[in-house]
Amino acid sequence: MAILVTGGAGYIGSHTCVELLNAGYEVIVVDNLINSSQKALERVQEITEKKLTFYKVDLLDKAALDNIFQKENIESVIHFAGLKAVGESVSMPLEYYHNNITGTIMLCQVMQKYGVKDIVFSSSATVYGNPETVPIKEDFPLSATNPYGRTKLIIENLLKDLYVSDNSWNIIMLRYFNPIGADKSGRIGEDPKNIPNNLMPYITQVAVGKLEYLGVFGNDYDTHDGTGVRDYIHVTDLATGHLKALEKLNEKPGVLVYNLGTGKGYSVLDMVKNFEKVSGRTIKYKILPRRPGDIAICYADPSKAKLELGWETIRDIDEMCEDSWRWQKNNPNGYND
Ligand code: NAD
Ligand code: UFG
Repeated sequence: MAILVTGGAGYIGSHTCVELLNAGYEVIVVDNLINSSQKALERVQEITEKKLTFYKVDLLDKAALDNIFQKENIESVIHFAGLKAVGESVSMPLEYYHNNITGTIMLCQVMQKYGVKDIVFSSSATVYGNPETVPIKEDFPLSATNPYGRTKLIIENLLKDLYVSDNSWNIIMLRYFNPIGADKSGRIGEDPKNIPNNLMPYITQVAVGKLEYLGVFGNDYDTHDGTGVRDYIHVTDLATGHLKALEKLNEKPGVLVYNLGTGKGYSVLDMVKNFEKVSGRTIKYKILPRRPGDIAICYADPSKAKLELGWETIRDIDEMCEDSWRWQKNNPNGYND
């Protein structure tokens, strides 16, 4: 029996494939490579010295997806595939709704047809909108401020409705906080196609000299140094959360939702300082105006995942920065090197 990993060539997917293979799972990846490289999967196999099966297939191609379910013996699905750039989602809402929502519907239809009803879904802390207090618990009010976030909220509701219609589904929705870091090998990591939107890849690209300086989006927030505070989580810790979720699915639990974060918040300038300390590089930065849509502070209460999944993070901020740096230093042009 195998685990189908949609979006398995991507940043979080590839790291999860490493952990799955190391734990002895059989892994089948479906990815259209729209935001990733097949090299990531070659390197996953090199790191683990284990084989996986790869299908270059778009989730919107239902016939191709059907063929995979017919051919393979799939036990459960981890569903990472989706478009994730907030700014792009504002300018291309139709593409985001179509890809993320229709893609999920097609996946679930095919799963239903083949009686595969166990799924782990990649949700996001973005579904909490601008929270009134921190740390954020799973039962906080949900809202979205951009099309990307709305696709996550809609898919969460869609999956809950699916369960109501048929209680034999088991669905775990994982709300990720801010994944950074990379596998210890330095062979796989985050490889943004264009200029990075997210903080850590921006910092690492300044460190290797690809970008001149970091723009810090606002220093007038109500935080300890005025810059935005986030809950950064090592991507390998995030990956192990998926293995715990798979184990939980074996208990046939119905619908569950968990925050995956560390419970600690670091500001933009904290991240710059930590990165400089572990890399020995100076990160030039300039204070810029706030980025529209950003919130001041966001960090998780991860206690539900600890209690019910037996999962907690073990890698600290220095390790996250060190591992991000090793990946970028060894692969200045990502998978194009
Ligand atoms: P990523 O872009 O690196 O990975 C997503 C993968 O899905 C890519 O390999 C892409 O090629 C593939 N894909 C997209 N649409 C597809 C389709 N229609 N058919 C087949 N493959 C398709 O992103 P990531 O950072 O690894 O994120 C994985 C998931 O986690 C996404 O759903 C994302 O929204 C969610 N998430 C990410 C973050 C983050 O900060 N990275 C935070 C919260 C949630
Ligand atoms: N930041 C900068 N300069 C940059 C990039 C980011 O100052 O060049 C700041 C932001 O203003 C924010 C912090 O760094 O205060 C983190 O920003 P990111 O863009 O790395 O992450 P976000 O918290 O804005 O959003 C990320 C993902 C979303 C996801 C959310 C919660 O991009 O898709 O985490 O999981 F929804």
